[in-house]
Amino acid sequence: MADINITSLGKVFAGTPALQDITTRFEDGEFIALLGPSGCGKTTLLRLLAGFDMPSSGTIRIGARDVATATNMVPPEERNIGFVFQSYALWPHMSVRRNVSYPLEIRKLTKPEIAAQTDAALAATGLTEYADRMPSDLSGGQRQRVALARCLVSAPDAVLLDEPLANLDVALRASMQAVFTDFHKRTGATMVYVTHDQAEAMAMADRIAVMNQGLIQQFDTPQTLYERPKNRFVAEFVGRGTVVPVKAVEQGENQLHAHVLGARIAVESEAQSQVSHVCLRPENLAISETGDLRAKVARVTYLGGKYLLETVSSCGTRLLAETRAKFDVGAQLGLTITTPWAFSED
Ligand SMILES: Nc1ncnc2c1ncn2[C@@H]1O[C@H](COP(=O)(O)OP(=O)(O)OP(=O)(O)O)[C@@H](O)[C@H]1O
Ligand SMILES: [Mg+2]
Repeated sequence: MADINITSLGKVFAGTPALQDITTRFEDGEFIALLGPSGCGKTTLLRLLAGFDMPSSGTIRIGARDVATATNMVPPEERNIGFVFQSYALWPHMSVRRNVSYPLEIRKLTKPEIAAQTDAALAATGLTEYADRMPSDLSGGQRQRVALARCLVSAPDAVLLDEPLANLDVALRASMQAVFTDFHKRTGATMVYVTHDQAEAMAMADRIAVMNQGLIQQFDTPQTLYERPKNRFVAEFVGRGTVVPVKAVEQGENQLHAHVLGARIAVESEAQSQVSHVCLRPENLAISETGDLRAKVARVTYLGGKYLLETVSSCGTRLLAETRAKFDVGAQLGLTITTPWAFSED
């Protein structure tokens, strides 16, 4: 069992908080992504989970064991956790096979056991034919697979990954994402994957913790984060769209209405009459001559099969719409707003 319980966790560097009072739980076997802008505390949280740093306050519990408190810490090698980093950290003087088998040699397994488990890890990461190469003779993606195989061979309860694909090109990233999700399915290990690439987080994670300034802003499934953001930061960080203030709110019998950009529209929300903002995503804006708003096309981007229109409404708000038909820059159009998500920004 490797569920991870984090309670009131804080980390301060030279008087500046990098993590502030984080309380959360990662379930056994979940694929979690930590997503957020540079400097928000992702690596710091991962390093505390790994045991490379000690928390300033709070506790981390992995399975049934307290592994870190502000006064006591289980060292990394006793946590049964694997790590994969952006820099592959392979041993340069060892072959691929030896890089993978080395953790087993340290554990003093028998030779046949080491050979069998190493072969299985190499096969699982598609490295069998590279087993005798040196790391310097591999591509970036192949090196990253060696790092993963080395992690797999130790049968860890949890695997921590810090932007493992950041050095790779787009095509390779996509195929490596599949390697990671296969690895997760195969091992059932709890995975905590740090990235600032939201497409990557959305593609792989069961749940995403969106972080900002040392806090988890929202921790939910990719779909919930996109469709029901809790606040402005999450609404703007995840997916495309524009956050717009609400003027007045009316609670009808089954439907909440809000006044947005001069129009009265139906909205969805958990905050009911408390709502202060709506998130207008492209799918909430339909182009129609009789629309709620008038807007002018400022920029057109081809997305493959459709176009993203960046428009500016008559009151100066930037709004994004998607269409199959091509519009020219400067074209005037009408936009109808269809039931956007509203939230309360306190
Ligand atoms: N050893 C350290 N000493 C002092 N400050 C640190 C140290 N490590 C991290 N910080 C600070 O803590 C904050 C969080 O850093 P962290 O590395 O966790 O960010 P991150 O979310 O991983 O960012 P990135 O996406 O750029 O990797 C930053 O403001 C950083 O400058
Ligand atoms: Mg980092």
